[in-house]
Amino acid sequence: MSAINYAEKIPNNVNIGGDRTLQRALEHWQPRFLQWWGEMGPSDFKSADVYLRTAISVDAQGWAHYGATKMPDYRWGIFLADATPERKIGFGDAMGQPVWQQVPGEYRSTLRRLIVTQGDTEPASVEQQRLLGHTCPSMYDLRNLFQINVEEGRHLWAMVYLLHAYFGRDGREEAEELLARHSGDADKPRILTTFNEPMSDWLSLFCFTYFTDRDGKYQLKSFAESAFDPLSRTCRFMLTEEAHHMFVGETGISRVVKRTLEVMKEIGSDDPARVRAKGAVDLQTLQKYLNFWCSSSLDLFGSEISSNSAAAFASGMKGRPDETQYEDHVLRSSVFEMTLPDEKKEQVPMLNALNEVMRESYLKDCEIGLKRWNRMIERAGHALRLTLPSSRFRRSIGPWAGVPVDPQGKPLEKSLYEKRLSEWIPSPSDRAFVQSLMQRVIEPGKMAGWIAPPERGINNLPVEYEYVRRRSWSSWTISPGVLPNGKSSARSTRRKRTTAA
Ligand SMILES: [Fe+2]
Ligand SMILES: [Fe+2]
Repeated sequence: MSAINYAEKIPNNVNIGGDRTLQRALEHWQPRFLQWWGEMGPSDFKSADVYLRTAISVDAQGWAHYGATKMPDYRWGIFLADATPERKIGFGDAMGQPVWQQVPGEYRSTLRRLIVTQGDTEPASVEQQRLLGHTCPSMYDLRNLFQINVEEGRHLWAMVYLLHAYFGRDGREEAEELLARHSGDADKPRILTTFNEPMSDWLSLFCFTYFTDRDGKYQLKSFAESAFDPLSRTCRFMLTEEAHHMFVGETGISRVVKRTLEVMKEIGSDDPARVRAKGAVDLQTLQKYLNFWCSSSLDLFGSEISSNSAAAFASGMKGRPDETQYEDHVLRSSVFEMTLPDEKKEQVPMLNALNEVMRESYLKDCEIGLKRWNRMIERAGHALRLTLPSSRFRRSIGPWAGVPVDPQGKPLEKSLYEKRLSEWIPSPSDRAFVQSLMQRVIEPGKMAGWIAPPERGINNLPVEYEYVRRRSWSSWTISPGVLPNGKSSARSTRRKRTTAA
């Protein structure tokens, strides 16, 4: 088991000190990363002490270290899971051959593109979430947001390490570009659409961490199977960090449902207008947020039929999540039956249908939370059930792109679709309502009125623990800078402290 060396400027467990050129290149990138964090990371919490976990080793006990840290002092570094001795390629045409410790020339540009696309999502989400600290529903939630943010920053380090260590000059240039693109920027946006969506409320954050971080889990799992061993080892460790992000999403939505059910009981009504009047999120609005973020995240898997995914699998670059669960690892002779928009069934070579295979197993994984939330709703005696939208709904990639279907996947007239869309995804007035609930609550242990407290605190500490300490909470300045929607905020806004609900 490799311990992490924190004595070096860049903490790592891959002995970067043994390669002076690499070390110099990364030490050159490090101040640029810190500058990016300063400008695009969580706004206005640079001097706050945050109760964060830091990895001290890459095994299961590696998260033993928790303590108060100022975010800019977080020890971002390069941590790879331990190598599996004699590891062999587990799928594709080269199955059974030894894994690659270097990038084969013929796969260089494809692998670089895959790593850059993954790497781009990591800082993008930090940028999307940078202002959320201002409207946190509790100090516990604020801490969780910052934990996610520093870990997404570390995920960027993970991908930048691969680019620097294995892709020469092209890799170094790509690493610079990862800091130059910004979420929602009109000229230089992030690569994938979901990571350019503005995120101005915590309901969106919980949906994002439930659906979009789960896409991240699936991508990382498929890279963990890769024949390019450094990529596999990097992603295996990233997965241990990702689990917390999805936990925040799942428990966040659970707490919203719980609070809404309490309010419904209190007022003896499930009328959405009355639930809203009591300052809770009505379940119909929650459903719209689920539809929005789930459908947006479904596009991240790519087109239903894809020769790129076929090539990535056949070559060994990218497998399926948990590849060992399947029987056939070569897929040269299997087919996948796909239903296309004209209801025509098509037999597609399985290799070309892998994006869809992944999307289907992702949706199954998404169902787990839905079942839990629906059990809560059922126990409270209400008939409504939350659902996932059909994978055909609101797609912008693949054969269903632009095809007007309702959230159940039923085709309808385009004009009717456009008219009804605001019944299915948040309308401007839904967003304005959710925004109106976003009042900052920072007294330790107190919760905003729209969310129930968590069942337990962090690392066995009580929920009331002071997870984030800053010198003064009484006045507040939003720094001018780039907002998640890419527009620059020219003025500073001073806000009054809001007391806990
Ligand atoms: Fe990540
Ligand atoms: Fe994540």
